[in-house]
This record gives sequence, structure tokens and C-alpha cells, in this order.
Amino acid sequence: MQATALAYSNIALVKYWGKRDAAYNLPAAGSISATLAPLATTTTVSWRRDHAEDRVVLNGQRSSGRDRARIVTFLDLLREKHGIDWTAEVVTENSFPTAAGLASSASGFAALALAATRAAELDYDLSALSALARRGSGSAARSLHGGFVRLHAGSVDAPEEAVASLIASETHWDLRVLFVLTATGRKKVSSTVGMNQTQKTSPYFDAWIASVNRALPQAEHAILTRDFDALTTIAEASALQMHASAIAASPGVLYWNGTTVDIIHATRAMREDEGIPVFFTIDAGPHVKLFTTASHELAVQRRMAALPGVVETLSARIGGPARVLDSPLGPTPEHPSRRSE
Ligand code: PMV
Repeated sequence: MQATALAYSNIALVKYWGKRDAAYNLPAAGSISATLAPLATTTTVSWRRDHAEDRVVLNGQRSSGRDRARIVTFLDLLREKHGIDWTAEVVTENSFPTAAGLASSASGFAALALAATRAAELDYDLSALSALARRGSGSAARSLHGGFVRLHAGSVDAPEEAVASLIASETHWDLRVLFVLTATGRKKVSSTVGMNQTQKTSPYFDAWIASVNRALPQAEHAILTRDFDALTTIAEASALQMHASAIAASPGVLYWNGTTVDIIHATRAMREDEGIPVFFTIDAGPHVKLFTTASHELAVQRRMAALPGVVETLSARIGGPARVLDSPLGPTPEHPSRRSE
């Protein structure tokens, strides 16, 4: 009754921002992402009869409060659905700095879905795992697959259709992703709170969802044809439109700091003045993630590391699918190369 799984993080090129249904955690629109190695979560789940309550150990520390509550709620889903009356011990490690406010829910719930079902000997295929991971976090539904991934919106009548599918595997396009960290500590407004506030109060929310539906087929085509320029236009627009809709909420949801804006300008200057293929995307926090090619990765990293306000950079490449590991603790996941200023 024990299994260990590893899942990589992912970053959206066409963003998910808004829910059609909170109970099933159904997204209001589809989204497209790239899975990122070596930013991984490794999770061991042991179902046990002898413990009164679930135990959660996160990065070597016994977890309580909100982090533990989200995991227990997720385990409750499985217990209810399959009549399991055991509790679980969940031991989970991130290979990237959680304290820096980097999203760990995508890799975290993907690894948890895989380890928890496997440990309970439940027969879940990739689609079923993706739907299950979605209940923990929308972006987690995408981290079951490697490479380039599309999450479908589904509907209230057919929530099982809100699952991820593969656009192209991790060997399709050797892109590099540079995380440019502009702050330390956890983000102040969670993505769930930020998207709810946007959906409820932003006059731009409907326009945002319409723009996502236009961007999805365009982004898929750009990925399949490895068209970096087209993907640049689509991905930057998606990030800016998502943030524009959030900023227009009441009160406005503003995740950026001054360095976030400086990085946007520096990225565009590198591209427009020097012809370097690079574009930015930004999630629910102040950090910026840059896509570039393998041959330009070092130049982009050096330029970003030299900007005032940049705390640290982390390099990633396109990662593979989530997988079950043989040993309980698993091989130590490779650590991303970190460069501090
Ligand atoms: O998966 P969640 O609920 O943490 O939401 C993710 C939201 C964004 O990261 C901002 C966008 C995305 O598609 O990943």
C-alpha cells in the first residue's frame, strides 16, 4: 500500500485563469503548457490502518495548516470515491525552492494523484489521473504529461472531459525556460483567490476568456510547427491579457513588482534590438519566466542575472511525463542549476 511518484512542474503558454465550477475545479477555458525538468516533486504515499489521521511531511518538515489541509481534502476525494477508510502518510519533496514562491501545486498534485492511486492499487489511466490531479489544482492536470500539453475545458455535464492531452512530447522542441526570481517568500494572493476576484469583479473577464479561446488553436499550431515568433506573440499576449483582467478587478489583483516590469522591457529589448529569440510569461506572482532556445540560454541568463532586483535565476528544459519510481524515497531528483547574485 505504498508508492512513490515523480512529476515535473509546468508553465502555461496560454493561461488558465477562471473557473467554470468550483466544486469540480473545472476551468472556464482550456490552457496550454510546457512541462519543465528538472523542477520536480517526488511524493511517497503509504496508506495505513494504524494512524488516526493523515500525516504530511513536506520538504522534511511535518506539515500543518493550509498545505496539509489541501492534501487531506484531496485524499478525502479518493477515500469517498473508493470507500477507503485508511489514513495516509504523504512524504513529499520539491527539487526547487518552494519558499521562493514558485508554483509547486502543479507538480505536487500530479505526483500525489499518481502515488496515491498506485499505492491503493487503483486502476487509473492518464486521463483519469489528469482529472483527479485537476481537483487538487487546475495546472496539475497538465503535469501528468511531458512535453507540450493542452488542458481541455470540459463542461459541468461532462467534467470528465476536463483533462489534459499531449500536443507534442518533450523531444519535439528543445526550448529552454529561465526562471527569473524577483522576490523571496510566498506570494500574497493565491491563484485561486486572484482568479475568483477577477471572475467576480473584472469588467474584462469575458473578453479574457474569449481571447483564450482564440489563442488555443494558434498556440497549438505554433508548437507543432516550431514557430518561435508566432509563439512569442501568442504567449506574451496571453500573459499580459490574464494580468490585465486581474489588474482591472476590484480591488485590483496586481502580482508584479518593479523588477517584473524591468524584465519585460529587457526581454523585448533583447529581442527587438539584438534579434535574440526570447519571450516572457508571468504567473500569479512577481517572477518572470523566459522561453528561449538552447543556443541563447546562457546569454539570456547572464543579461537577466545582471539586472538590479533579480534575486536568482533557475534554468529548465522541457520535461517528460510523471512516473512511478521503484524505491520509496526514489532517486534524488536532479537539482536545477541555481545562480545567485
Ligand atoms: O493551478 P492553479 O490553481 O494554481 O492556477 C494556475 C494559474 C496560473 O499559473 C497563473 C496559470 C496557469 O495556467 O498555470
